[in-house]
Amino acid sequence: MNLNEAKKRVEALRREINEHNRLYYVLNQPVISDFEYDLLVHELETLEKRFPELASDDSPTRVVGSDLTREFVQYRHKYPMLSLSNTYSEEELNDFNRRVTEQAGMQVQYVCEPKFDGASISITYRNGRLFRALTRGDGTSGDDVTRNILTIKSIPAVIKGDDYPQEFTIRGEILLSRNVFDELNRERASLGLQLFANPRNAAAGTLKLLDSEVVASRKLDCFLYYLLGEQLPFGTHYENILKAKEWGFQVTSHIVLCNGIDEVKSFISYWEEARKKLEFDTDGVVVKVNSLEIQEKLGNTAKSPRWAIAYKYKAEQALTRLLSVDFQVGRTGSVTPVANLEPVALGGTTVKRASLHNADQIALLDLHYNDMVYVEKGGEIIPKIVGVNSEMREKDSRPVEFVTNCPECGTELVRVENEANHYCPNYMHCPPQIKGRIEHFISRKAMNIEGLGEETIELLYNKGLVRNIADIYDLRKEDLIRLERMGEKSVNNLLAGIENSKKTPFPRVLYALGIRHVGETVAKTIAGHFPDIDRLMSANQEELTAIDEIGPKIAASIIAYFRDEENAEIIVKLKKHGIRLAMEQQSKPVSGGRLAGLSIVISGVFRHHTREEYKELIEKNGGRNVSSVTPGTSFILAGENMGPSKKSKAESLGIRLVSEDEFLRMIG
Ligand code: IVH
Repeated sequence: MNLNEAKKRVEALRREINEHNRLYYVLNQPVISDFEYDLLVHELETLEKRFPELASDDSPTRVVGSDLTREFVQYRHKYPMLSLSNTYSEEELNDFNRRVTEQAGMQVQYVCEPKFDGASISITYRNGRLFRALTRGDGTSGDDVTRNILTIKSIPAVIKGDDYPQEFTIRGEILLSRNVFDELNRERASLGLQLFANPRNAAAGTLKLLDSEVVASRKLDCFLYYLLGEQLPFGTHYENILKAKEWGFQVTSHIVLCNGIDEVKSFISYWEEARKKLEFDTDGVVVKVNSLEIQEKLGNTAKSPRWAIAYKYKAEQALTRLLSVDFQVGRTGSVTPVANLEPVALGGTTVKRASLHNADQIALLDLHYNDMVYVEKGGEIIPKIVGVNSEMREKDSRPVEFVTNCPECGTELVRVENEANHYCPNYMHCPPQIKGRIEHFISRKAMNIEGLGEETIELLYNKGLVRNIADIYDLRKEDLIRLERMGEKSVNNLLAGIENSKKTPFPRVLYALGIRHVGETVAKTIAGHFPDIDRLMSANQEELTAIDEIGPKIAASIIAYFRDEENAEIIVKLKKHGIRLAMEQQSKPVSGGRLAGLSIVISGVFRHHTREEYKELIEKNGGRNVSSVTPGTSFILAGENMGPSKKSKAESLGIRLVSEDEFLRMIG
């Protein structure tokens, strides 16, 4: 390769890597695996070394990818937030050890810990209290996500004990456990929202939400792994981390002190398998020099410390033949291509099917029938096709084409602009969509009808007994008892469950309807403004978008839902069956309730109850919840991090701030 060719390739690589950085850090929607990404970076590094005249300070080999957005205030990191150099090979691990040993002039102790796959966070504490939390950003400045961080239970707002430095910074990874992730995606699927590809993307996306209440409902978690400051308690990483645990931080229990590189290697090989059983995704092991003095001596490159390295596990791959492609229609009408493969052993199981995501993915792979394809088991449970061996392609093999019509009902598919998926628009009559809506309706967070599983719904649907959610309330004992696998007892239980569901409060019924984009939180908000379904059904776009949190997309979806005649009929039937389609009459506050006559503003983030719950508590006790601070305001129920404008207004008007605990004491 001559200089000119190298220059072209270097430029192309930089463009490509920068685009992948944006997809990963800003959009949380990476399109290639970490391994493929690391290969690109490695190629760029090699070229920059070979042709030093092409080096540049803003090359992605020297600067970390940025997660900065316009939505948050940004602050500078007191200590730059570097990345880690990483490797997939034992050889490079040996090189690392050699460099460290040489520079240190002796054998060193290493600390090994799992490498958590989430979004990194840097939190500063002052005088024992959480002061500010920043994302990595571009490594120099980060987005201020303090309000969101305060909703995470495993991050202390106040430090335990009294032996902490006046100021310190602690860094860690924001995560979503696999269980919480599955639950979140299940809920999103039933609402027709785009699914998160893996827990990391879900965690990173959640961290950047503007509504802290939604963040709180997502159950983020955090492991802390790096302490920085001028007066740290100990001279070693290991002891400092144990101290952080005493202060109330969650640190991994799988942290190990290693004497020499061989112990490091045993740790790495142990966790290659064991990590699969952890509650959280990990993608490798981080190896750090234990002594802070030696760390300092080794120093940093522009992008990463020389005293640490990440050993990453390669996703396991197998090569097999593509036999055919099925197009599956999901509960929301989205059509997913699924590959049928010649069975092949991969990571302890036999793989016969793999996800192909969407039409773009098929085009990107340039997939042909009978191709030999590489399948990989990544963070996701379902294996995916990551590449094609085009040299092994048979002559005149046919390219895989996406179906044009719904394989379930024959309707022509549509593709919404800027969305990756094809949808079947036959919302009312496409069988999987009908069954999906019924499943959502009866689910735990919706009407919570026990005794009606996926299989029973399938059966009831096939027998023509249930064709929409309202039909559930027409089911009679004699219909059910005739079904296979339904004994007297389970029929009775089911009927009791159906009867019981009539007590479900209005906001949950609204959620249960399965209106696209109307999740639990949105349903609650809407019910707060439209206390019965008739008022909601006659609301127009303007009235709906006047509500905070309701944008044009949600409003349009609500209007379209009720405009549909069949939906309107379903509502009439539900009403006839006594389903709650209006808010309960507020039980009149006891006259002279503890907050009678008081106007109270709620502001900030809370620990014990949600904002909605506090609103209810205020009303129950005879008070009035008002939104803006005026001279007539009695006091402010102030959570953590209340809005700065409300705070200064309250100060200037001399209005008292009442903490959450104090408020709870007030109402007894
Ligand atoms: S230590 C100077 N320890 O991986 C960097 N990082 O790819 C010190 N990460 O930026 C970081 N688990 O966001 C450290 N146990 C762990 C980690 C960890 C995950 C993240 C972190 C880092 C990134 C590098």
